[in-house]
Amino acid sequence: MSAEPLEIYLEEQDLGRGLREDVRAGLTSTPKWLPPKWFYDARGSELFEEITRLPEYYPTRAERAVLAEHADDVAELTGAKTLIELGSGSSEKTRLLLDAFTRHGELGTFVPLDVSVSALRQSTEQIAAEYPGLRVRGVVGDFTRQLDRLPTGGRRLVVFLGGTIGNLLPVERAEFLNSMRSALEAGDWLLIGTDLVKDPGVIVPAYDDAAGVTADFNRNVLRVINRELGANFDPESFRHVAVWDPEHEWVEMRLRAERPTRVRVLDLDVEFAAGEDLRTEISAKFRPEGIAAELAAAGFARQAFWTDPAGLFGVSLARAD
Ligand code: SAH
Ligand code: TRP
Repeated sequence: MSAEPLEIYLEEQDLGRGLREDVRAGLTSTPKWLPPKWFYDARGSELFEEITRLPEYYPTRAERAVLAEHADDVAELTGAKTLIELGSGSSEKTRLLLDAFTRHGELGTFVPLDVSVSALRQSTEQIAAEYPGLRVRGVVGDFTRQLDRLPTGGRRLVVFLGGTIGNLLPVERAEFLNSMRSALEAGDWLLIGTDLVKDPGVIVPAYDDAAGVTADFNRNVLRVINRELGANFDPESFRHVAVWDPEHEWVEMRLRAERPTRVRVLDLDVEFAAGEDLRTEISAKFRPEGIAAELAAAGFARQAFWTDPAGLFGVSLARAD
């Protein structure tokens, strides 16, 4: 079966307006910042897939190990009819869940939602072909803004993998979980993957790999701004930096101007001093009790918490109360 046409919650022009607003706000602040969703144009999505295969990037392998071990539990415990995946990307690990639902459940519909049209096109077509009988409804949307429009229809399971929740700031995370809860009915389910606090000597290389793929991914946001807004960043004059922040327990990704740089973007002249940082992304790491508390505060009761054998990555299954 072929996938249905993508449903668009977010039009090109909304994306353009959002990018302009974020660029204006972020580049006129001190310190300068940009929000992470702009990494993911077609090239950004491909670079992220490359990151997931790097020897240093353990989160994808660790999360896949958890899902391989517990996908059947998820299918049995939830009995979901509709599986919604936020920030679905390639949905590569999600196939483990789809396989488990094929064995146990009565899953009828899969709804991957992402800002990246290119990633969604590929994933929906492949999944529709691989899972005949499954209705595949890809949605182009923003999970920080459009949770109120999630499809209804039978018991729902929302999955949010890859540790992507860690890319939100703590206040944004609480807002996200609250709107997630309002979008669901009591008895619906949430499956959420979180990278765990561990030796920074293991974490930092995952965000600063020897081959420089993450550096290229980070700089891609400058290429997106050049292309979409006609700016004139020279990506090569910015160095990728990943720093562990022990107080917040997150990795912060930055682009550091190697020399004094002036960039023309929108109607702004943006000056970077030599060594000045542009903050592009945080990736928060979690503690098992902390995740349960954040879920509870939003009205979710955690029913299971699983990690990979090495204890690197955690997956929580929670029910909307
Ligand atoms: N779930 C996949 C991909 C994780 S990368 C995995 O576990 O490997 C993060 C994904 O979230 C990317 O596909 C990106 O395009 C998407 N994304 C980032 N910000 C988003 C937002 N605000 N709304 C919707 N999707 C977003
Ligand atoms: N969700 C991923 C993570 O936090 C996203 C990611 C991986 C990322 N590597 C990155 C984001 C490098 C920015 C830069 O692990």
